[in-house]
Amino acid sequence: MRLGLAENPERPSSLLMENTFIPQLLDGTECGEYLALDLGGTNFRVLYVVLKDGKFVEENVDYFEVPRELRLGPGEDLFDFLAQCLSEFVQKRKLCGRNFKLGFTFSFPMTQKSLDVGILVSWTKSFNCSGVVGQDAVSMLNKAIHKRDNLNIDVNAILNDTTGTLVMGSYLDHRCALGIIMGTGSNGAYIEKVERIEKWLGKHPEKEMLVDIEWGAFGDNGVLDFIRTQWDNAVDEQSLLVHSYTFEKYYGGKYMGDLFREVLLTLAKEGCLGKGGVGKLATHGSITTTTVSTIEKESMEGEQATARKALEEAELEWEEEDLEVLKYVAGLVSYRGALLVSLLVGVLLQRMERPHCTVAIDGSLYRHHPRIRPLMEHLIAKFAPGHPFDLRQAHDGSGKGAALVAAIADRLHKNGATTTTTTTTTTTND
Ligand code: BGC
Repeated sequence: MRLGLAENPERPSSLLMENTFIPQLLDGTECGEYLALDLGGTNFRVLYVVLKDGKFVEENVDYFEVPRELRLGPGEDLFDFLAQCLSEFVQKRKLCGRNFKLGFTFSFPMTQKSLDVGILVSWTKSFNCSGVVGQDAVSMLNKAIHKRDNLNIDVNAILNDTTGTLVMGSYLDHRCALGIIMGTGSNGAYIEKVERIEKWLGKHPEKEMLVDIEWGAFGDNGVLDFIRTQWDNAVDEQSLLVHSYTFEKYYGGKYMGDLFREVLLTLAKEGCLGKGGVGKLATHGSITTTTVSTIEKESMEGEQATARKALEEAELEWEEEDLEVLKYVAGLVSYRGALLVSLLVGVLLQRMERPHCTVAIDGSLYRHHPRIRPLMEHLIAKFAPGHPFDLRQAHDGSGKGAALVAAIADRLHKNGATTTTTTTTTTTND
């Protein structure tokens, strides 16, 4: 796909542009009880919701931490763990044995063959389980669920967190056509006109389809090397899955703290920070993205306690003016992140040509960083003049969105729409 960005025609695009098999949003008739699972970060969520006329009337959620050994071990163990959490959840709420439709948010690049088949393309962020790449995550989840007598659940939809966020955004505001995650990882999903989808093999009468861009992989074919710095190389080399997810590693919450630290390390080595030595600045993971966000927040408030603490924890010999260096670098890495995401949002707004587009956003980086939102508002308006938009936080879009998608899938199924057969490729032609 060429989004109008600097894609090199000689190199194939690195964007997946996956069909989500969701051709419609909520129509206000959705009623019933649904379950949802939300996996993508170290926190895994199980949700139970009740919908009446397309509105939430009850919501329950439990959080479970996914231990490191499960994130890096055999895939079967990970799915058994998900089923175990689900089992504990239904037991606690006395829902055992009852039949539910379940929406599964699986926030990794996948190729969807239908609304309930998602083949994992590769792991990202902090997951690298064996035996899952190339497999259908729904089959693996079903297999784990069927091992448990107290569960009578049909997984009727698999989706990405950005898709869930878009659907949740449309619940909050019907003008929403773009869902974004800026958390540990980053990605976007938008509503595309089917007529613009090249190689559309479907025979459906749908006019539109939600498309999962997987923009984290943007630049994996080298087209973003012109903005790649020595610090990006260092961050990539220390990441779990090297030489992949170029765009995401330029600003994602999993990486921004390390990017900041790598810049400080160079400055310390070159005598521009501290009084000699690099202290603990060479230690991967020793500064988190939360520290960057907090330094930014305190800078805005005329405070600098976190910058001070960061220098102390780095065991540097430092002086007052070094605090300004930290604040400046925190501002730079944050600005670059906001700029990169805003560019993509600007291009998408131009592409969708809507009279107004609400952009639903969620993720820890967006929620906790004080400057990302104002910067994005300013930059998007600059990149897409004449395309009115609002940024709207869709809290827990990935979890609640999964329940909404399960309800949409249920409605489509009851209405006889096919959500399971057509093979399509969502590469678009301009
Ligand atoms: C994944 C995407 C996901 C994003 C945000 C990326 O690492 O590949 O599928 O949407 O993180 O969670």
